[in-house]
Amino acid sequence: MGHSVKRKEDARFLHGKGNYVDDVKLPGMLSMVMVRSPYAYAKIKSINKEKALAIPGVLAVITGYDLAEYNLHWMPTLLSDTQMVLPTDTVMHQSQEVCAVIATDRYIAVDGAEAVEVDYEPMQAIVDPFKALDKDAPLLRPDKEGQKDNQIYHWERGDRAKTDDVIAKADVVVKERIYLPRIHVASIETCGCVASYDKDTQKMLVYMTSQAPHAIRTILALVAGHVGLSEEKIRIISPDIGGGFGGKVPVYPGYVVAIAASFLIGKPVKWIEDRSENLVNGFARDYHMDCELAATKDGKIQAFKVKTLADHGYTDSSANPSKYPTGMFSICTGSYDYEHAFAELDAVYTNKAPGGVAYRCSFRVTEAVHAIERMVDKLAAKIDKDPALLRLENFIKKDQFPYASPLGWSYDSGDYEATLHKAMEMIGYDDYKKEQVEKRKQGKLMGIGICTFTEVVGAGPSKDFDILGIAMFDSAEIRVHPTGKVLARFGTKSQGQGHETTYAQIVAEELGIPYDQVEVEEGDTDTAPYGLGTYGSRSTPTGAAAAAMAARKLCDKGKKIAAYLLEVSEEDIEWEVGKYFIKGAPEKCKTIQDIAFAAYTNFPLGMEPGFEATHYYDPPNMTFPNGAYICVVEVEKETGQIDVKRFVAIDDCGNIINPMIVEGQVHGGLTQGIAPAMYEGIEYDDEGNVLNGTLMDYLVPTAVESPHWETGHTITPSPHHPLGAKGVAESPTVGAPPAIANAIIDALAPLGIKHLDIPITPAKVWEAIQAHSKIE
Ligand code: CDP
Repeated sequence: MGHSVKRKEDARFLHGKGNYVDDVKLPGMLSMVMVRSPYAYAKIKSINKEKALAIPGVLAVITGYDLAEYNLHWMPTLLSDTQMVLPTDTVMHQSQEVCAVIATDRYIAVDGAEAVEVDYEPMQAIVDPFKALDKDAPLLRPDKEGQKDNQIYHWERGDRAKTDDVIAKADVVVKERIYLPRIHVASIETCGCVASYDKDTQKMLVYMTSQAPHAIRTILALVAGHVGLSEEKIRIISPDIGGGFGGKVPVYPGYVVAIAASFLIGKPVKWIEDRSENLVNGFARDYHMDCELAATKDGKIQAFKVKTLADHGYTDSSANPSKYPTGMFSICTGSYDYEHAFAELDAVYTNKAPGGVAYRCSFRVTEAVHAIERMVDKLAAKIDKDPALLRLENFIKKDQFPYASPLGWSYDSGDYEATLHKAMEMIGYDDYKKEQVEKRKQGKLMGIGICTFTEVVGAGPSKDFDILGIAMFDSAEIRVHPTGKVLARFGTKSQGQGHETTYAQIVAEELGIPYDQVEVEEGDTDTAPYGLGTYGSRSTPTGAAAAAMAARKLCDKGKKIAAYLLEVSEEDIEWEVGKYFIKGAPEKCKTIQDIAFAAYTNFPLGMEPGFEATHYYDPPNMTFPNGAYICVVEVEKETGQIDVKRFVAIDDCGNIINPMIVEGQVHGGLTQGIAPAMYEGIEYDDEGNVLNGTLMDYLVPTAVESPHWETGHTITPSPHHPLGAKGVAESPTVGAPPAIANAIIDALAPLGIKHLDIPITPAKVWEAIQAHSKIE
């Protein structure tokens, strides 16, 4: 723990030996390509397969009607909504899968897809979620029993009456409508699978880009059990994954059709999205948030209220725990100590791709943090108080933890003041404040933005968190072989986070077995213990904890063996990482390797042989990582060009397993934070067409656009985690956008600009500057 050991997995990645789904090639494998809808909302009058089937090599064209024969044309989403696998009569968003072409290779399948003739009758799409709630808006989901309008659900938390009362009486109230648009997950590897059904063994093997292979296996068995796919016959293997970020949690129609096709044809079927397909489908965010923050005239925050309209597209495909339809959005009260808050949300259907996928954040924390952090800055501007000072005066104090938040969380630990002070010192906050005064005198636009966020990561506990009824815990199995070497398997699944290294470090630390003698495996449902997978920074809070607990079980067993071998009672044995010795006689000892050998060769009579342990870890609480980010920008008045001069990120993720990996996670996350802040956002026209569906139009920042990230950390261990660790992977993606937005808006403040929604592009800045007359 705490050592920056090099990543074990990198040898294979750097030598081109990674094994991704598209690397899987099975004998007789067929290729599947989707025909997709050019319309956002249309009736399907007919699908003519003839010309496609006439192409040599095209074996089948599968439509919704073909799947309907097996009742497989609809499937549940992870949040208990329903989603078409393939449509029978209506398409609900542009690029929706209409039918699938199976051919002997991908090129032929693409030709086949182009030859399928679909006759559509376009209808007026509902693109604007506010209009979707109009009384006379057409009902988008008449297929859902009892659905009378386009509202999916209403959710609320907190005390509305008290919050309203405090807001009504407050000295100062700031208000803003904040919009976080849809963005793409844009992982390097797109989604895909290879489904291979063996008619003789009746086993279905699926290689899949899934962040949660066990959950997928269970869902598949529940959905397709009636056609004979029972759970013991299904094996999901998630091999190496090129980035998940939440986009590889849901079940996509492509997976289901490939599995159905392999089941029916009896041959392996590969489906891999191309880049454009990936760009028109997966997405996150799309929250319109009306915020109100109330305070005394000196800036003591008293109450926060937020009313959100969430555009979920045509189905709610959020991967949220079932009791949390809005994910962890109720963390929106932030890092500040006040009593009153109320949050409500209406989720609506529109003619857009299925929505709610969490993009590198623990289920809506990005939206929540953006809301509160923008509002705190607005309050600072309104009462003309330094935003750092305002935060310091309102922070939950170190000795207030565990802290009961107004919307129901119990924050485990933190020292927000220390973290912000560290960030201020590192960037030279006071000097920048002085420089800003000088620059403003010269008419230059310079801004300083702060974000001090609290995350909530690591679901369970299982009593509160489940996905489609499956309780959220996670698991580790440690097998120590007779020669003292280890194979450790986990229910989580790395998509590039370095689990093979950090889990090995934990086992090494706990047992004293050298880290390079610990092999880590994840992602194969036939071999790994059951777990809910990796998303929402949950591997460290759950999988890492399970590793420590399983290792500690082995230590306990090892003590009994040591007592037997050293011929003393168990009470006389002491453990020091790597060896057991007799109290007061450290030279009389047995190493962990001696014990492992004895567990298979010379163990006490009546003891269960072997040296293996499994632990299913059910966390008692979430972990609450936090951070203080400060950004300095300069904006060119004439062009709107934004230059991020400095960005300092101080993270507190409790005890750190591998500082180098954490730094890498933070660098990547910050880049994924600058993306929505300044570049990315999916745009639609009034017909529901995606206007920026290629990487030429949709700007994913590269190293060239990324500033030099300066990182550091403070450490307040989690009191309930066996290693004192908290998750970290998503903190930077959550914290960076408000820090950048706050900095840009601070730069524009002398012009009277008080708010801009992200992405804040040069064009948007330029337009705002033109609209405000104060510019000379
Ligand atoms: O669930 P996911 O792996 O995406 O997120 P995480 O639990 O935040 O872990 C990301 C990576 O950072 C893993 O390799 C962790 O072991 C590592 N990490 C760490 O070394 N120390 C921490 N306190 C948190 C994460």
